Amino acid sequence: MDEEKLDIEKTLAYFTLDEKTRMLSGDGLWHTFGAGEMPRVRMSDGPNGLRMTDDENLSAVPATCYPAPSMLACSWDPALLYSVGAGIGKEATAMGVNLLLAPAVNIKRHPLGGRNFEYYSEDPLLAGELGKAFISGVQSTGVGACVKHFAANNQETRRMYSDSVIDMRALREIYLKPFEIALEAAPEAVMCAYNKLCGEYCSQNEFLLTTVLRDEWGFDGAVISDWGAVRDRSRALAAGLDLAMPDSRGLFEQNINAALADGSITEQTIDRSVRRILRLTDNVYLEPYGDYDADENDKLAYNAAAACIVLLKNDNGFLPLTRDMRVTVCGGLADNAPIQGGGSSHVTALKSPSPLDAFGKRGIEITYCRGYSSDAKQNDRLLREAQDGAAASDAVIVYVGAPAPQEGIDRTTLDLPPEQDRLITELTAAGHRVIAVLCGAGPVRMPWINRVRAVVYAGLNGQNGALAAVDALYGRINPRGKLAETFPLDLSDAGDDFGKEQTIYRESIFVGYRYYDKINRDVLFPFGHGLSFSEISYDTMTVKRIGDAEFDVTVTLTNKSARDAYEIVQLYVADRTGRVMCAQKQLAGYMKVFIEGQTSTVATVRIKRRAFEFFNVENNAFEVADGEYKIIAAASAADVRLTATVKVNGEFSGAQQYPAVYVCPIRSKITDADFEQLLGAPIEKPQPRPQRGEYTLDCCITDIQHTFAGKIAKRAVMRRADGAGEPNSPERAAFIASALNTPLSAVYAMSGGAMTANQAKGVMEIANGKLFKGLKLVLKKNGR
Ligand code: BGC
Repeated sequence: MDEEKLDIEKTLAYFTLDEKTRMLSGDGLWHTFGAGEMPRVRMSDGPNGLRMTDDENLSAVPATCYPAPSMLACSWDPALLYSVGAGIGKEATAMGVNLLLAPAVNIKRHPLGGRNFEYYSEDPLLAGELGKAFISGVQSTGVGACVKHFAANNQETRRMYSDSVIDMRALREIYLKPFEIALEAAPEAVMCAYNKLCGEYCSQNEFLLTTVLRDEWGFDGAVISDWGAVRDRSRALAAGLDLAMPDSRGLFEQNINAALADGSITEQTIDRSVRRILRLTDNVYLEPYGDYDADENDKLAYNAAAACIVLLKNDNGFLPLTRDMRVTVCGGLADNAPIQGGGSSHVTALKSPSPLDAFGKRGIEITYCRGYSSDAKQNDRLLREAQDGAAASDAVIVYVGAPAPQEGIDRTTLDLPPEQDRLITELTAAGHRVIAVLCGAGPVRMPWINRVRAVVYAGLNGQNGALAAVDALYGRINPRGKLAETFPLDLSDAGDDFGKEQTIYRESIFVGYRYYDKINRDVLFPFGHGLSFSEISYDTMTVKRIGDAEFDVTVTLTNKSARDAYEIVQLYVADRTGRVMCAQKQLAGYMKVFIEGQTSTVATVRIKRRAFEFFNVENNAFEVADGEYKIIAAASAADVRLTATVKVNGEFSGAQQYPAVYVCPIRSKITDADFEQLLGAPIEKPQPRPQRGEYTLDCCITDIQHTFAGKIAKRAVMRRADGAGEPNSPERAAFIASALNTPLSAVYAMSGGAMTANQAKGVMEIANGKLFKGLKLVLKKNGR
């Protein structure tokens, strides 16, 4: 095979300096630049299906739409993630896509995170392992995978400017860990994030892109930028960013040439990245070949959806329903439930049957009442109709959910639209037996939780999600998914260190269940929670030592009911050494097992050293605290079934001091001074936003909105926003947020020629008060 590989050094020598410089940015929106004879690598999103678009036409070619990553994660099943990755990969090969811009393994730090639907989990082990399996699946087809967004990309507000301020332990143990694990599958590429990390843009962050990624983890693939994330091309290059996407339409070449001229970079720095781009091209480039089996992928999309539905509540076995029951279905969402989120991951689904279609497809007769509307004037009438419909029913299924999430904006509330809460509250108050089916992404508040009989989390479950949910309601499948994130009771529990221009991650390592556990706060549904129609007992646990900090844990389980079931066994470890600041417990392993009705089975899970490690900041290394640990077998983070105590032999036998507040780290009580102790440095003051006279192409419309040029630009955006979605819709809000908060250099680059460099510069000059200079530039005919 080796002789077929491209001779990188020979090929490199063949290019001129200009060609090499040009290769460091994309060609158009989706390709690498093919200098000379080099073919162009084609890239496409994304994490839940192929979104292949071209430069002219942004609507993607139809493709299989799988469950969104936030749902896929509820399967806790790396084998499934592998299959989905391979399914998307096959479609990519048929379309001639060489590099898939997925998976995204960022941590869900806060329930309002706007891209949580694209991310797997609040737990780094689960997120990392699922991402790793997905990568292996994609790459098994010959298509490269690009893991993203490196790193600490946990909010959408001001996403191209925001700064994530994180202490080293949290960074290493929580935010970098999923990447470290996912990289074990050797993805072809890593995509840097938009945001800054501790004051430095990820796109030019040498610590991230070189020290950690390459020197420590040994990554030898290509680092590419998120679309429009690069600010200073030569600084990014020096920091280790190989390919800037998309085409900068000349800006980055100018920047690199200037840096070469003043000696801040050399040709060697350019060569280093060109080599990696050549290697990437050689590894992944293929002409479109073969075809994919749409039926096979459709089945996979169904199986995935079935594996991901989570039965959150089921009083006295109210579910499954039987076909002879009289059932009323309510909710506008029953007619049109979102199957995915919006933005770069949005797939043109091959199909998207609604829940009502799904009842029809299964031949289940129901009565439908809309029940609620976003038009408040109609709600009294709709509610009365629903009450009447419900009166003659044995059960009422109410589809509820927030609007589909959109990349580019954070959620603003955990509340469902009030008319939906009201419908459930009034139906239950009238004594009806209500089942809530939760559509949409992630946690919501459920003020009516004690009054409903059952809750099914159907989420954003892809093109067959609606069918799988109906099958769960009627027992055609036995639900088996478990939550990969906590559903808090209330937003106030999640804290407000979120969505700022500079967001301080005060809670440090106490993210998700690690936080609620540590402060002993009740939640609506815990991490790892999910029921089935079967009762599963955890009978015995044996722990066998494999090494100093490695164990095989065997759990015996019994399915006490007649119905076959799956159970996702979770193992946590709890550090009892008292030597370091630590979570009450953290996920150490898991396994999904099939258990035939009325039988027992065993699950043996290897707990690796990684599960016991903490990052010792003093030694800049992961270490294990020596001493006693508890091993916990659990059905969720709040449902501990069996425990054992083990002695772990670790190299760290000292004790670390940390601020007392972290014994019970309620976010609002953690002061700057407390956090600075963990940070090991003062929190840097956020850089002041530029003022008149200082505006550059790095600024966005929000920065200049109070200037004459800014007002005109904003007005133009608002006018165009009307075409982006209904008033008050998330689609419209996302369009506005992104148009106002994207640096002008990126707007120019991505405008595909609609804006010239002179126009972009001209707008800034006008904002700087240089009206004539600016106008001259804006009106100039030539320029790219
Ligand atoms: C997103 C990436 C995506 C890229 C290309 C960006 O806006 O953040 O996740 O891969 O666009 O579509």
